Parts: sequence; C-alpha cells; structure tokens
Amino acid sequence: MRATAAGIHQAAAHLRNGRLVAFPTETVYGLGADATNADAVGQVFQAKNRPAGHPLIIHTATMAGAFAVGADDPAATRLAERFWPGPLTLVLPLRSEAGIADAVTGGRATVAVRVPRHPVAAALLRAVGRPVAAPSANPHGRLSPTEAQHVRDELGPAVELVLDGGPTEIGLESTVLELVGGRPVLLRAGGVTVEELEAAIGPVDEPGADEPARAPGMLRQHYAPRTPLRLDADDPLPDEVYLGFGAAPGATCNLSPTGDLEEAARNLFVMLRRLDSAGARCIAVAPIPDHHLGRAINDRLRRAERGATPDGPGSGQTVCERPS
Ligand code: TXA
Ligand code: MG
Repeated sequence: MRATAAGIHQAAAHLRNGRLVAFPTETVYGLGADATNADAVGQVFQAKNRPAGHPLIIHTATMAGAFAVGADDPAATRLAERFWPGPLTLVLPLRSEAGIADAVTGGRATVAVRVPRHPVAAALLRAVGRPVAAPSANPHGRLSPTEAQHVRDELGPAVELVLDGGPTEIGLESTVLELVGGRPVLLRAGGVTVEELEAAIGPVDEPGADEPARAPGMLRQHYAPRTPLRLDADDPLPDEVYLGFGAAPGATCNLSPTGDLEEAARNLFVMLRRLDSAGARCIAVAPIPDHHLGRAINDRLRRAERGATPDGPGSGQTVCERPS
C-alpha cells in the first residue's frame, strides 16, 4: 500500500492490534510489531524464521521515547543529538519498567534502540505511540529488502500490510553501537561510519571476529544471495557475473561507476538480488575501499560470501574458488 496519510493511519492501527506491518526506513525496510505485545513479537520471529534469542531493534519516534526504553548516559545523549533521527542503533541497559516483551531482547538486560529518519517511519511511529520492534523485513539470513516489492515477494501473507515508500536512501542497515559501560563497542558497521562516531565521542572498540557472543544474532554468514560470491575480483571469469565498483569495464552491474561509496551502499543489495537471479556460477565482486561506508559494504559482502549456498544460509559450502 502507498504510504499516504490514510495508509499510515491504517498501518498504525494494525500495529496497535498486534499485527505485523512492513515499513520503509532510511536504511532498509523493517518488519514491525508492537514491542510491548509478546504475541506480536513472536509473529515476527515466525515470519522471518528467525531463531529465538536473536534480539530485535526497537524503533521510536523520539529520543525521549528511545531513552524511556534504554537507559541513557552522556555518551548516548551526545550520539543521539548528533545522529538521531538517523541510521544509528544504540545498545543500552534495558529499563524493565518499559514493558518490552522478553523476546525482543532475548531475555537480555540490554536493548537496542533507534529513531529512524525516514518520513514514513517517523509518521508511523508517531501514530502508533508505542515502541515498535523491527528487524529487517527479510527471511532470516537473506538479503535485506530495500524496496517494498522485496518484502511482498519474500515474506508474504504473515505481513498484514507493506507500506511502500519507494527505494530506501542508504540501502544497508544501521550501525549498531553498544554503550553499556566502558568503551563503546561497534557491533555492526552501517549507515553512520566509525569515523563519524569517533569524531563525536572518541575511540570506539571493534570486537574481533572470534567474539560472536558480543553481538547476538550477528552471524558470520548472513545477507546471502543464493549464488556464491568471489570477492576482490579484478575481472570476471567466463561463467561469472561481475559486480563492479569504479572503472570496471567487464561489469554486469556497477555499484558506482564514479567510485562513490554512498551510491554503492544504496545499490548493494538490489544489485546482488539482480545478479543472484542471473543463474551464473558465481558473482565476482570488485574490491571496495575499506573506509567510511565501504566498511559496512565489505562487512555485508564478507558475510554474504560465507552464507551463499543454494540451500540457504548456514550450510557453509564454498563452491566459488579463487582462480590459482
Ligand atoms: O537498519 C536497521 O537497523 C534495520 C531497520 C529496519 O531499522 N533493522 C535491522 O534489524 O537491521 P536486524 O534485526 O536485522 O538487526 C538487528 C541487530 C541484531 O542482529 C543484533 O546484532 C543487534 O541488532 N542487536 C539487537 N539487540 C541487541 C542487544 N540487546 N545486544 C546486542 N546486539 C543487539
Ligand atoms: Mg537483518
């Protein structure tokens, strides 16, 4: 449904009645449920086939709303004032009096909160007047949706309504930063860059790849197309399609011919989807610079490389060998 005032009004009513609504944010489309309604939150896990224990992000219309759910401190306030509304998620100590359903946090003492800046998300959250839990609106382990049609194609009837706000602006998910005492820890690279975070609050820690428990639900294999990926490829082999960046003569699709990382982030998932349906043996991907939004792009590509299998994420096959 088009995200008109009437559509948003109807979507808000569905959410208050414990139904699921998909809606656009500036990062990717989210699958929303009333975060205070345990049954509604349970339906989100079912619809996505998401394993229990993978916590969800709570979305609110305002900073005050977010800090009524997660406990703020001076660093949180500073980041919120600088980056909200926007693509930053803060993991904070949970305020138990907020009445958030246990499944949202997987029973943890911490909660992830963010205030999105997409006008449709903002209007919807204002109209609902309750915190909305919303993971990306994709089946577990697959590419996040950047268009309403992706959600309709992949989640189907479990979703009461999909608000269509057009393609999303940023194209990959929010940055997740843990602020629970001690140094801030980057749990997921995303729409706000580490460089921007550090300019605001000083040094940010990045847990090693061997610390998976730190970011529950951040699987090493994730964001996966079905076709295997071959990263850092300078050109394609004959039976490959090629995702280029910058000058890339043999490219089937180019994330950004001018080498613009924002454009590349916006195009990443939609181009991976397109190339995934090409039926090639492998998707070769050009090297992407590892700074600014390039960090988040490379993070998603590495997870997709590990996750790509014809049978869905997690079986760990690698069919796409680097040429020796
Ligand atoms: O851009 C986004 O963040 C999108 C839009 C819809 O807002 N949402 C999104 O949600 O990407 P999801 O569920 O796909 O990813 C949420 C991630 C989890 O994988 C987990 O790593 C982290 O947020 N997270 C949530 N709650 C947490 C907690 N209490 N402690 C640590 N990490 C948490
Ligand atoms: Mg997700």
